[in-house]
Order: sequence, then structure tokens, then C-alpha cells
Amino acid sequence: MALTNNLSVQALQWTGGALKVLDQRHLPAQVLYDEYLDAAGVAEAITSMRVRGAPAIGIAAAYGVVLSALKHFADNASTWRELVAADMAVLAASRPTAVNLFTALAQMQAALAAADSDPASLLACAQKIHADDIAANCRMGELGAALLADAKGILTHCNTGALATGGYGTALGVIRSRYQRQPIAVYAGETRPWLQGARLTVWELSQDGIPATLIADSAAAWLMKSGAIDWLIVGADRIAANGDTANKIGTYSLAVLAKHHGVNVMVVAPTTTIDWDLADGSGIAIEQRAPQELLPDCYQDNALVSAWNPVFDVTPAELISVIVTERGIVLNPSQHGVRGLL
Ligand code: MRU
Repeated sequence: MALTNNLSVQALQWTGGALKVLDQRHLPAQVLYDEYLDAAGVAEAITSMRVRGAPAIGIAAAYGVVLSALKHFADNASTWRELVAADMAVLAASRPTAVNLFTALAQMQAALAAADSDPASLLACAQKIHADDIAANCRMGELGAALLADAKGILTHCNTGALATGGYGTALGVIRSRYQRQPIAVYAGETRPWLQGARLTVWELSQDGIPATLIADSAAAWLMKSGAIDWLIVGADRIAANGDTANKIGTYSLAVLAKHHGVNVMVVAPTTTIDWDLADGSGIAIEQRAPQELLPDCYQDNALVSAWNPVFDVTPAELISVIVTERGIVLNPSQHGVRGLL
């Protein structure tokens, strides 16, 4: 088993003058990369979910700012800052829930303000955001795996791996690290309606030689009842100061089920996913995606059949056993929230 901090699957690659984005809509059938040369293209890649996952969205947006600066500086050196600011607003509107997008744009905004009359330092900032995310994931992998010494089985939800991050992954990084120490049974929920679990997670794990068992989302309660798993391990799109956590739709239901069945719940996220100014999860904007993503073909034009398609939900802190970040872990976050990490 040749497992290291495997970065072979890369959602994003900077080529020197363009951003290559692995189009995740086609996985696992096809591995296709698109090349982007401007911020509007990157924003569209985020909105259309060619690239998805909270940290990866933030990193893509950072490179989008670099592309914007390179383009506008070459075209119009006197007004390039204003033009870049306009592109940053477009990037900020690409998806609402993952706070990593706004964290990354704030970092790029600071770099833009400090940049002299040359945008080169913006690339350094984007590459640092990317490298820091990989480093955070590897650290969280170690911290999370250390909590799983006696675990026999893990259920995960959505895709939180290299595809969703700069590399290695958050929840999937913990699973990778645990598996490197000692193989463990890994179950992945399909994650309807976009099927991040079925299309991305089991594929990504198989690239690393890690066996995974796919379950229908609706099989989770019965799996927990069977006693096969002792941990639910998920990522996050936004964590409020009190520990309430927004993540892929279905996470809340799984956490409720976990409480009933005595299964531990681990949230794994870098501190770029924490919204320090948000007191609790009630203020988190939940993205609603088009009904067409949920409706079967036969109902696409049926006036009587509609769809409600929120793609995230908020799990209250009291249902979470531990939050793992690169700065340390927070046990029972409902007691004191996550501000102690600051
Ligand atoms: O809609 P998506 O696929 O972008 O949602 C992704 C998730 O909900 C992930 O669990 C979350 O971003 C953490 S990824 C490390």
C-alpha cells in the first residue's frame, strides 16, 4: 500500500498563466480539465460546480483574482485596481454558503491593497492560500486520526477530499491518515442530489487504494443501528462561533441519527471555514440551487411538480462531538464554541 499525503488527484492547478480546473461534473466517467484565463470564467466554474468544496472554492477564487490582475494590469495599468475589485465582486457572488470564498477574497483584497504597481504579489498570496490549505489538511489528518484509535467503522458524507480542497482533504484527510495507520471500514453516503459521495468520494478513495462501501443516504440509520460504525466524519462550509456547522444537505439528519445511535460526530475543517463574527448558525446563508438539479427529466417542464433544493443544512453544536482544525481540536463545542482557537 503506497499511501502518503497523496496529492495525485488535483482539483486545481496553476499553470503559470491560467487556472486548470478539473470538471467534477463529469467524474468518475471522465477526467477533464478546463483552462481559465479570467475571473468571470472562474466564477462560472464555481457556480456551475465544476469546482466545489469550501476550501477549493476559496482557492479557485484567489487564483481568479490573480487572473483578473494579470489581465487588467496588461490592458489598463492606470485603472487595474478598480477593474480587479469589480471582478472580486463577481467571484464573491458565485456561491453563498462556504465562508472560505470570502476568507480567501479578503486575503486577496489585502494583498491587492499592498501591491505596488505590479500584481505579482497577488500570485504569491494565492499560492500561499493554496499551500496553507494543504498543510492544514495534513495537520488535521494527524489530529483527527489520533482520535480514532479504537474506531471500527466510519461513515462520511459528501466529498471532502483532495477534490474539495487544495489537496488531501478535511474529513477525507482524517480518513486517509487513519487508514495509513491502520485499515478501517469506510462507508460513504451517496449524497443526493448531486451525488458527491457516489461520484467523487468512492472514486477518490479508490485512487488511493482505500476500499469504501457506498450506501444510499436513506440507509444511514440502519447502518448505525447495525453497530458497524462508531464515527460520522464530515467537513464544513461555515462554522459559527458557537460551533454550529453548515455542511452538505443531509449532515443534520445524519447528526440527529448519530445521537440516537451513540455514534460520535467529528467535523473537520480548517480555520478558514470558521466565521468568527457569526454568533450562531441561524445567520448562515443556505444556498438554494435550481429545481432542475433535483427534478427527474420527465418533470422538468411540468407545472404541477416543483422541487425544493437547499444544498446545505446547519447542524447545531450540541450534536457535534468534536471539531478538528489545524490549530487544534474542540471537544464538545456546544460548551464553549470555537473562539478558543483564536
Ligand atoms: O456543494 P458542494 O459540493 O460544494 O458541498 C461541499 C460540502 O458540503 C463539503 O462537505 C464541504 O465543503 C467541506 S469540503 C472539504
